Amino acid sequence: MKQQYGQILTTPKPFVKWAGGKRQLIPILNENLPETFGTYFEPFLGGGALLFHMLTERQDQKCNISDLNSDLVLSYTTIRDRTEALIISLKNHEKNYQKDSKSYYYSIRESNPRSQIEKTSRLIFLNRTCFNGLYRVNSKGKFNVPLGKYSNPNIVNEENLRSVSHILQSSKVAIQCRDFESVLRDAKKGDLVYFDPPYQPISDTANFTSYTNKDFTYDDLSRLAELCMNLDSNGCRVLLSNSNSKEVADMFAIKPWKINKIRANRSINSNSKKRTGHFELLIRNY
Ligand SMILES: C[S@@+](CC[C@H](N)C(=O)[O-])C[C@H]1O[C@@H](n2cnc3c(N)ncnc32)[C@H](O)[C@@H]1O
Repeated sequence: MKQQYGQILTTPKPFVKWAGGKRQLIPILNENLPETFGTYFEPFLGGGALLFHMLTERQDQKCNISDLNSDLVLSYTTIRDRTEALIISLKNHEKNYQKDSKSYYYSIRESNPRSQIEKTSRLIFLNRTCFNGLYRVNSKGKFNVPLGKYSNPNIVNEENLRSVSHILQSSKVAIQCRDFESVLRDAKKGDLVYFDPPYQPISDTANFTSYTNKDFTYDDLSRLAELCMNLDSNGCRVLLSNSNSKEVADMFAIKPWKINKIRANRSINSNSKKRTGHFELLIRNY
């Protein structure tokens, strides 16, 4: 689909594949948005599926987006401000990958570039070529996903990078690297906050929480629930995604919270047989 933003560009979409990404749930999330709201906050941004949808539908929407993963946040600002240099760097990765994918992948995985362009092109390159497009780091913050099995991965999606850059520039979008709780300082009455945190595990084997070198713990979940209550008291609209977990449901089993069980497909699971439909929770206070 083509979209007009002064020039013809494709509709922007997430530039990384991200565990827990919400692309498949956009229709149901969209149905659950309030009709009107002030600033849109997304403090667990990840690949930003809902953000891109929102900015496509409402080009003048004021947005405040953030995530704790500093490399990811840097990627958003690099794409916004230095798209063409980034594309050149990604083309270079693509050329070298085509010569010897395995050794090149692992040499880049081991590398620790300093420049903004190279840090971002490394993140996108690894995301496009690693196993399952997963972002996972170890306790030292080192990316540790093995090479994926792709015959021709799409390493440089120039059109999408330009669309993303354009939409981030032309809209009133503030991007920050910070913990989710900081949203309390900024969100005002009538604003909308969408929380899509790392999910509360529902079984010992089904968890994936290593987007940063700090796991998302039960204490973080409790902090999040308390924050939701405070935002509600301040007159904010709050929408929250989480797993179909009893602990989460219990935390929100009070007025004014409404809990919907929705059907979803998990897109990142190392075992393809487990990529079946499952239920998750969509919780809101409006
Ligand atoms: C489920 S993902 C979000 C997926 C996103 N909605 C999408 O469509 O791609 C959760 C995100 O929360 C971020 N995160 C983890 N702990 C955080 C914290 N304490 N504060 C802010 N962000 C955090 C992770 O880096 C990750 O990008």
